Amino acid sequence: MHLLAIETSCDETAAAVVTDDPRHGATAGMFAARSNVVSSQVDLHAETGGVVPEVAARAHLAALVPVVRRALAEAECRWEDLGAVAVTAGPGLPGALLTGFNAARGLAYARGLPLVPTDHIEGHVGANWIVTDGTQGPPPLPALALVVSGGHTELLLVDGDPASGAHTFERLGGTRDDAAGEAFDKVARLLDLPYPGGPPISRLAATAAVRRTRLPRAWIRGTDDFSFSGLKTAVAHLVASADAPPPAEVAWAFEEAVCDVLARKTARAAEREGVSSVLVAGGVAANRRLRERMRAESPVPVFIPPPALCTDNAAMIGAAAFRHLDQAVPPERPLDIYSTAMRRARVR
Ligand code: KG4
Ligand code: ZN
Repeated sequence: MHLLAIETSCDETAAAVVTDDPRHGATAGMFAARSNVVSSQVDLHAETGGVVPEVAARAHLAALVPVVRRALAEAECRWEDLGAVAVTAGPGLPGALLTGFNAARGLAYARGLPLVPTDHIEGHVGANWIVTDGTQGPPPLPALALVVSGGHTELLLVDGDPASGAHTFERLGGTRDDAAGEAFDKVARLLDLPYPGGPPISRLAATAAVRRTRLPRAWIRGTDDFSFSGLKTAVAHLVASADAPPPAEVAWAFEEAVCDVLARKTARAAEREGVSSVLVAGGVAANRRLRERMRAESPVPVFIPPPALCTDNAAMIGAAAFRHLDQAVPPERPLDIYSTAMRRARVR
């Protein structure tokens, strides 16, 4: 079956055609993205140094129809070939979510297709089940998943039902304040680097000639929680101090502190839970140093999607939707999206 997936939870307007059909590249337990179109609003938000929710929602409205058309065209897929429409229902920015959700719902209604509301975090995890050139999957379950992005830092236990292929998710912990990507973005601003801050911080850090500065780590012992706001404050003080090290060394010390905590806490939780693999996903999983540290610390094999499947995209939403097709709904049903704050309240 082919499904059309749509993602608009933050600042990327994305659509993809995903399939479980081996004739179109799917392998046992893995899915193939026949197209994966992402229209980024990064330039729009670079001016403000971050995402302005209403600006993001309006930009989705403008980009959605061309992005969906391109996703179908690149997949050489007709409406008749589709079996369902999958869409991100949350968590994310409410206005941004509503534009994609309603578009998906309207398309499903017009075409008589079921709608598969899908969780954005489960989508990031699902990216590990998409066939790519260097595919090593499917990852063995149970797995421990670290989802690190601009909006989320979550540690989840993922298990699967071998008969139905359905995945279950149990949240073990997450950030108590800033998300890991948000910390990269805020520290980038302190260092006069552009938005989004992850890639330029990483590039600058790689040039550090001196690597002595040590920034504080919040371990929050006895929990699987994280905290990055203290680290951001420490960077602010360091940058403002009279004997501030060069920006490259600050960037390096910051990246080390974030990657150290993420890799060691995830590895410890993986050992404790006795999982068979570790999955890393979300925009920050594109970070080279984090990939290195995860592989060095983890007691079990580490799976990380290629960078284009780590940052927000719709193929990952399609892959996750295949895991709960039984939860597809008729699009005319009263339906709702959920914001980041609503999801946090629900899982606690
Ligand atoms: O998953 P994503 O595209 O969107 C959200 O759902 O938030 O993640 C975007 C975040 C941004 O905060 C960005 O700075 C961060 O991922 N990011 C990185 C890197 N590439 C993107 N952080 C660290 N290193 C990178 N190479
Ligand atoms: Zn995301």
